[in-house]
Amino acid sequence: MKILIYGVGGTMGHYVRLSAEKTDDIQVLCGVDKFYTGNEFSFPVYKSTAEIAEKPDCIVDFSVPQGIYDYLPYAVQNGIPCVIATTGYSEEDYAFIRQCSEKIAILQSGNLSVGINLLLRLVKETAALLGNSADIEIVETHHNKKKDAPSGTALLLANGIREVLPDHENHLGRAGVGKRERKEIGISAVRGGTVVGKHAVSFFMDGESITLSHEAENKSILSDGSLTAARFIVKQRAGLYSASSMFS
Ligand SMILES: NC(=O)c1ccc[n+]([C@@H]2O[C@H](COP(=O)([O-])OP(=O)(O)OC[C@H]3O[C@@H](n4cnc5c(N)ncnc54)[C@H](O)[C@@H]3O)[C@@H](O)[C@H]2O)c1
Repeated sequence: MKILIYGVGGTMGHYVRLSAEKTDDIQVLCGVDKFYTGNEFSFPVYKSTAEIAEKPDCIVDFSVPQGIYDYLPYAVQNGIPCVIATTGYSEEDYAFIRQCSEKIAILQSGNLSVGINLLLRLVKETAALLGNSADIEIVETHHNKKKDAPSGTALLLANGIREVLPDHENHLGRAGVGKRERKEIGISAVRGGTVVGKHAVSFFMDGESITLSHEAENKSILSDGSLTAARFIVKQRAGLYSASSMFS
């Protein structure tokens, strides 16, 4: 499979290239990066999809939210499946992604690691089993350079819980809000040092508690996951897929 890395000059673009080098079946055909000015790659790097001469089998995107307005029209026109790993989309962006997924296969996920997607499944099962008999709290920890809080993964977990407990609501932080209600999903963010990413979901019952947790040790789990997603999405019909579809 020949892939296009969108955002190839960035941190995750670097890891996707390294992940592809470790495989026998995936080759980087070209990259797109609006702000990349180097020349260290063995493949061409374009400023936008308007300049692309080759036809990739799949686009893997780790860039910025507005990138979709460049590459999705190109992907629809050329029938190219896409893996969208970028985070931070608005409702309008999601509507555009859904509209394009009527024509091409798109997998979109805020976390592509096997472990987090397994955690998501276990958390949803636990929430469904316990129903309203537990107070649910999520604590996420990341390095001191992370800009957003809470993490996209904490929101992915909280939103997964709300699929099975639709009357629950996310509560970010607890300062000044007083006593908690049972139907709150508390989310707390901790920042420090070089922690790649830790997520813990606790279910507090009367007299006992269960905590399910995941710890990322490096970023390759995410770039390896994006290639697993590429292998999955090139075999699918048009539609919008989540990471859980490829692990089921
Ligand atoms: N889904 C996941 O598993 C996962 C994992 C890690 C990071 N991410 C997300 O991936 C995204 C990228 O993360 P990163 O750490 O590599 O960021 P980064 O800032 O290091 O890299 C982003 C790259 O995109 C390029 N870029 C910026 N604007 C562009 C545009 N309009 N068109 C084309 N390229 C453009 C930049 O020049 C840069 O090289 C973020 O949204 C991050 O949250 C997702």
